[in-house]
Amino acid sequence: DTVQWDPEETGKSGYDHFMLKEIHEQPRALRQCLRGRVDEMAGTVDIEDLADLSPSGVQFVACGTSYHAALYGAQLFRDAGIPAQAFLASEYATAVPPIGEALVVGVTQSGETADTLSALRAARKRGARTMAVTNVVGSTAARECDHAFYIRAGPEIGVAATKTFSSQLTALNLLALGMTNTQEAREVITALRELPGNVQRILDESNAEEVAETYEHSDAYFFIGRGYQFPVALEGALKMKEITYKHAEGFASGELKHGPLALVTQNTPVFAVVTGDGEQARKTLGNVKEVEARDAPVVAITDGQSEVERYADHVLELPETHPRAAAVLANTHLQLVSYHVASLLGRNIDKPRNLAKSVTVE
Ligand code: G6P
Repeated sequence: DTVQWDPEETGKSGYDHFMLKEIHEQPRALRQCLRGRVDEMAGTVDIEDLADLSPSGVQFVACGTSYHAALYGAQLFRDAGIPAQAFLASEYATAVPPIGEALVVGVTQSGETADTLSALRAARKRGARTMAVTNVVGSTAARECDHAFYIRAGPEIGVAATKTFSSQLTALNLLALGMTNTQEAREVITALRELPGNVQRILDESNAEEVAETYEHSDAYFFIGRGYQFPVALEGALKMKEITYKHAEGFASGELKHGPLALVTQNTPVFAVVTGDGEQARKTLGNVKEVEARDAPVVAITDGQSEVERYADHVLELPETHPRAAAVLANTHLQLVSYHVASLLGRNIDKPRNLAKSVTVE
């Protein structure tokens, strides 16, 4: 289940920063994640062991970027009719919720995050079956859990997680498809197969740099999304904070009017992820109008199926695809925006102040 990487992988291969290199490695990382696990003809995901798991519930525990992936993962299972929740690992360990027959899944790139390990140990103590969704073979989480599912992103050197987040979302789709029966399976599998190529197109064509140049001196940055795009909004904001040291917040689109709208001014661009033309898009469009009416610049990350472009100052284009895959694509644009803002501000992108790649204390 392991992947061999060239020695040159450990250098920057001509990129200014590991972060930018790792953003560009995403198409390859996603192909590695999917390799051998999907039967497109049959419309199924074939992963040994998983089919036998069929849990009656799933509890995810994770920190930081991995927590955003966990939020997305919980929604995947809920969509398949299985009760699922995501917990911040540091909160879970202090008050373990009733586990019952639930499978407890730790999402952790490194497999060494102390808070996540504690949460998994607390769950085990209560008799739960545990699984690690991780990038590192032989990591503590992988060794201690009953099951390990590898995201196969390859080594990530930049402190800010980029390709591993995309790989986590992809791996969680495989997990959910492998453990549940979803009517949408075929559609999702097609979207996953198209994902590496679509990510490549965004890397080649994104106007993220121009957006970064326009807003590099903004007071703060807000990110909104709904459903599968809500974790993307949170991750967009976290990336911006981590590497630019600027204030950024992610909100569920619907929550904007319950407080955060007071912060919105003409110096706070709002990044809105809007996909499809359904109920969710229509509602988020309403939220975007509220922002626009208060003179805040709007950057729409959209596939153009809704009317959001009419209210946007900038558009970061997405292809039409399944909303689950659109989340990975929207996040790719946002990674690039944060990277370019940080680069314009001269930040220490690969090693932001006060942060560590892996946090081994609680
Ligand atoms: C640290 C890193 C974050 C990461 C978090 C969880 O805070 O700086 O980028 O998301 O740990 O790490 P894990 O290895 O458990 O995914």
